[in-house]
Amino acid sequence: MKQKIENLRLETEAAIAGAESGRALYEAKMKFQASLKEVMSGMKDLAKEERPAFGKIVNEFKQTMESAFEERAIVVRQKEMEEKYRSEQIDVTMPGKRVVSGALHPITVVKNELIDVFAGMGFKVFEGPEIETDYYNFTALNTPKDHPARDMQDTFYLAENLLLRTQTSAGQVRVMESGKPPIKILSPGRVFRSDDDATHSPMFHQMEGLVVDKGITLCDLQGMLAEFARKMFTSSTKVRLRPSYFPFTEPSVEVDLSCSECGGKGCRLCKGTGWIEVLGAGMVNRRVLENCGVDPDVYTGFAFGMGIERIAMLKYGVNNIKTLFENDVRFLKQFKD
Ligand code: PHE
Repeated sequence: MKQKIENLRLETEAAIAGAESGRALYEAKMKFQASLKEVMSGMKDLAKEERPAFGKIVNEFKQTMESAFEERAIVVRQKEMEEKYRSEQIDVTMPGKRVVSGALHPITVVKNELIDVFAGMGFKVFEGPEIETDYYNFTALNTPKDHPARDMQDTFYLAENLLLRTQTSAGQVRVMESGKPPIKILSPGRVFRSDDDATHSPMFHQMEGLVVDKGITLCDLQGMLAEFARKMFTSSTKVRLRPSYFPFTEPSVEVDLSCSECGGKGCRLCKGTGWIEVLGAGMVNRRVLENCGVDPDVYTGFAFGMGIERIAMLKYGVNNIKTLFENDVRFLKQFKD
């Protein structure tokens, strides 16, 4: 019995001394307790008179070992803390790592700004599909197959009657078909034309607007445009309407804003005219209203469509539309606010 205790002592002392972590020490303790239990279970084999003396020995042994465990625990905990401090130490003199954050693309920024301006006037956003039928993109907009105005937009056809929309105006028809006036919608989105130079890209973004109600006139269009110009550019920006032609509006107008660069005196940006063309608009053609099931004798409306890239280029003084699509970070970084 005594020998067993002695063996357990040696074994446990070695385990305590070798325990380098709280976990190892805990395991050693568990093992010791199990072994001690086993030793104590041998007590029943002792003669009755031997038991008290042996019990005392075992108790003392137990206490000695427990305090050895505790002592070691303090040392191990201290070691562990030191190790933790060492590994978590921060050298404040080291150069920091710069976190590079992204930002919205200028087209998205301008699109959001436009939506803000028009939402303030009560417009709701409607997004139509990018793949359209010939009917929505042209025919319903008073541009049948043989109409010469089809030549104004070089179209990507996917099938005979299926195409990539050339204008967000296609959404006008969808909106009028599916709801009754009053209608006041804004329709942003990508459009596609087989066109490619410094100011044209085969894919670009438009923002369409449509208002249909009783008694809507060209004056309403003009007033709304004036508000748009002031909010989007400067409070002194003026609006000018010039007669134009679109099959789906009558009368049709081309809308110019006074040049934001020179204030109307004439400069390189406005090619000396003092005005910059920004959008097409007009009163919705009776035929279009009829095609969409809206009674043109009861309702009138106006529509407008602008190129978002064009607005962005004017606002930020960008002279090549390609830079908006190359996604060179050196260019994009400049729009971060
Ligand atoms: N859809 C025309 C274009 O892309 C713009 C426009 C929209 C003109 C609405 C009048 C009314 O050129």
